[in-house]
Amino acid sequence: QAIKGSFFTSPVYGEVNFHDNALIEVDRHGVISDILFKDQSGYQEALAHYRHQEQLVELSPDQYLLPGFIDTHIHAPQWPQLGVALDRPLNEWLEQHTFPLEAKYANLEFAHTVYTDLVEQLLAHGTTTALYFATIHMEASLELAKICAEKGQRGLVGKVVMDHPTGNPDYYRDESTEKAIADTEDFIKKVRQMAETVPQGLYPVITPRFAPSCTDQALAALGQLATKYQCHVQSHCSEGQWEHDVTAERFGKTDTQALADFGLFGPKSVMAHCNFISDEDAKIFRKHQTAVAHCPISNVYFANSVLPVRHLKDLGVEIALGTDISAGYTPSLYENMRQAVMSSRQLEEGVDTSLPASKRGVVHSRIGMNEAFYLATTGGGEALDLAIGQIAPGYACDLQVVSTSHNKDFAVFSDEEHILHRLLYSTNSDNIEAVYCQGRLVHTKNN
Ligand code: GUN
Ligand code: FE
Repeated sequence: QAIKGSFFTSPVYGEVNFHDNALIEVDRHGVISDILFKDQSGYQEALAHYRHQEQLVELSPDQYLLPGFIDTHIHAPQWPQLGVALDRPLNEWLEQHTFPLEAKYANLEFAHTVYTDLVEQLLAHGTTTALYFATIHMEASLELAKICAEKGQRGLVGKVVMDHPTGNPDYYRDESTEKAIADTEDFIKKVRQMAETVPQGLYPVITPRFAPSCTDQALAALGQLATKYQCHVQSHCSEGQWEHDVTAERFGKTDTQALADFGLFGPKSVMAHCNFISDEDAKIFRKHQTAVAHCPISNVYFANSVLPVRHLKDLGVEIALGTDISAGYTPSLYENMRQAVMSSRQLEEGVDTSLPASKRGVVHSRIGMNEAFYLATTGGGEALDLAIGQIAPGYACDLQVVSTSHNKDFAVFSDEEHILHRLLYSTNSDNIEAVYCQGRLVHTKNN
């Protein structure tokens, strides 16, 4: 099988490579085995061969290939409340809106309906891999894993742990600390068993919601499970001032330090937000190769802050992108890339116009679309420690076919970077013609 088309990929932060009408060869495991470039010897012969065998997908001239996007932070159960109560503070939004909604996933039928729709919508927006928070419910969390497997999306799924007797409401809390820990171990085993027949990969994730939801005993036990099973881990860290202050008071140290001390930081750990981490905390992230899931839209509402992406990259921290549905109101990582760029500009420029320009914001904060594109692709692969996010040999064949026919560019650009930037600023699900995950067609428009 092979795909012929022009593609963009970003193997290095800030850099984008373009290849005109390349021939991407895919092996039977859905991995890119080779890429032949247009002026390379053997290209024409290979093209003729695949055409003859009817194993060739050919893009039209107004279409481009991008890597499938990687959403490194999303709450699947919150899909029904996109954009709801975003004017409230985080703790109030959790208590009055989010926890009551998440409690409904005790009903498996409801879970099935919502999760099916969500996974289809994510694929339609070009997201081929997602790192999900589910709920505290075992059955519904397994259902999410099953739906990812069936729909062809690469899912990393966490049964959420919320065992703290006072940090969670009575109606939405793990029965006991012991059961929360035992259920997590059971969940890891069950998902790993399910994953044996899933070509694109399916992974269990240890998921303490955030420090305020969990007891010390649970956090420590989950850290041990992470080591025992060499498992992915996810949580929230230093999202806003409230969370930062609550954890500082409880542990006498930052939540970064606390979570790391509980054994929850490793190369397969992803912490959402991290807006308030110090340079010392950043060193802990770097030391453990733990990634930050940057959720720029959500941060506007609940964090009231901007992640200093450029500063943290300079300190060597891995960063990827997340929608943080439903604190982020959209399933689109395109929209989050745009907000990542815009927020970084506002951080740099600041708002206090009584100050001279040089004193207003945080100088050297801005990032551009090249950087945002990296965060949504290669950055996600790094964060999850998987060979995904790039169009290159050895990487999973996760691709989106994006068309310019719906948002015509009138062919006025020849500069490739301009073509890419225009695509990234204007693409929505109407422009995404087809999506492949692990070489399998998982979405076509109007199907
Ligand atoms: N912190 C703990 N839970 C949540 C959640 O569901 N969304 C966000 N944005 N922050 C959280
Ligand atoms: Fe979140």
